[in-house]
Amino acid sequence: MQKNVTEYKQIFEKAGQSHVFKFWDDLDNERREQLLERVAQVDIDELSSLCKIHLFNHEAQSLDLEGLSPAPYIPHPQNGGDQVQWHEAHARGVEALKANRFAAFVVAGGQGTRLGFDGPKGTFPTTPIRKATLFQVFAEKIVFANQTYGCDIPWFIMTSEINHSATVAFFQEHNYFGLKPERVICFRQGLMPAVDLNGKIIMEDKHLISMSPDGHGGSLRALVRSGAVEQMEKEGRDIISYFQVDNPLVKFIDPAFIGFHLSSGSQMSSKMLPKANAKEKVGNFCVQRGKICVIEYSDLPDVLALETDASGKLRYIAASVGIHILDRKFVKEAGGSGTALSLPFHRAHKKIQTIDAKGSIVKPSEPNGYKFEMFVFDAIPFAKNAVVVETRREDDFSPVKNATGVDSAESTHDDLLREYARWLKAADVPIETDATGLPKIKLEISQKFASDQSSFVKRWKSLANKPAIVDGLIIA
Ligand code: UTP
Repeated sequence: MQKNVTEYKQIFEKAGQSHVFKFWDDLDNERREQLLERVAQVDIDELSSLCKIHLFNHEAQSLDLEGLSPAPYIPHPQNGGDQVQWHEAHARGVEALKANRFAAFVVAGGQGTRLGFDGPKGTFPTTPIRKATLFQVFAEKIVFANQTYGCDIPWFIMTSEINHSATVAFFQEHNYFGLKPERVICFRQGLMPAVDLNGKIIMEDKHLISMSPDGHGGSLRALVRSGAVEQMEKEGRDIISYFQVDNPLVKFIDPAFIGFHLSSGSQMSSKMLPKANAKEKVGNFCVQRGKICVIEYSDLPDVLALETDASGKLRYIAASVGIHILDRKFVKEAGGSGTALSLPFHRAHKKIQTIDAKGSIVKPSEPNGYKFEMFVFDAIPFAKNAVVVETRREDDFSPVKNATGVDSAESTHDDLLREYARWLKAADVPIETDATGLPKIKLEISQKFASDQSSFVKRWKSLANKPAIVDGLIIA
């Protein structure tokens, strides 16, 4: 039951956060309601304990790296993996897709600050010619899989308070890109208040607590709280394909990956790819005390990051790129309330809008506070039989993080073109490329036409009238 303002004032005062109500008397009714709405979303005990751990207890901040070693993984066939094993895994994955055990799940609640795009990141135009948005690309992949495997994949989309309405409106405007509206399920993730360097809640205005999404790790809680897990249970779906909204290359309906997940009896499986260099800004798959875990690049000491084996290959080679399969029962366990399995929060030092003593808005030029986030990969050590499977960067990973440069709209655009060129070459179509595999002409292959190289080759070869390969060609 919702508490009244007097009760909230007492609770916040006891927690040393009475300033949240400092301007209460100045607020009109609408603003008072807005303040109470946010106040009701704050778990004050959780916040107090986070401040204790992350702001005031310096010992607890040093990461435990004892006994760390590189994680084992199933190598890709082109890197020494067993062809027969991959073939069997693929067949098993296809069977699971046909049996309707699969659900797609994208986390799209982030703020996308680095990209600086006005709107949900999923609405960012990404393909070279059609300028199909990230959401459209993923929708087309689902349409293709539904046709190929005769299944009916539901697509769960985690949004946040900041972009939920815009996301839902976008799908409505575009008729769900050919999917049934009831099979596209958007739900909001949780929010966490931001605090200043002394652990005081930051007010972004007199009536607004500064709140931000609780990280992609918040997805486990949100999947349970939103009823998504319950819906999957009713439909008999136990394989949840987790991916991130900024990566149009991701093969999130990947039969071999599903097959390895199932044959290992894994509760949380991950794709890995070899790091581009020792210091690449990605998480590292490791093993600690017999459990697979991910150590962030910033936490892996140089002495380990730079370590090589006898052949000169990096020992900590396995990069985590935010592609997982989650077992539904595991999510229910991990994301349920009062569970023993709670993910840790991490703090991020950020510039956060605040107010001065008189209540005027201040936009800081330097980081002035902390946001708290959970990371989904922190669930891996809790999972039974967690397995890591190698993929190739060019097949699965090219995120749009920044406006320009590395991992940007530009690099993703070129990586998509390289993928189309590779697929065409594999189908024996002559296409001129530069040394990096970038075609000299612009073209595009719709995800409704093919989902990967082998499906492209098969479909292309079956075409009676093949289009000429010219600049501006769209294969759809
Ligand atoms: P990033 O860590 O790249 O964050 O998210 P971001 O918010 O998209 O971008 P920046 O850091 O502000 O520039 C990786 C994935 O996790 C999702 C994002 O939407 C993206 O798909 N995410 C992140 C959430 O869904 N919720 C969050 O709270 C954070």
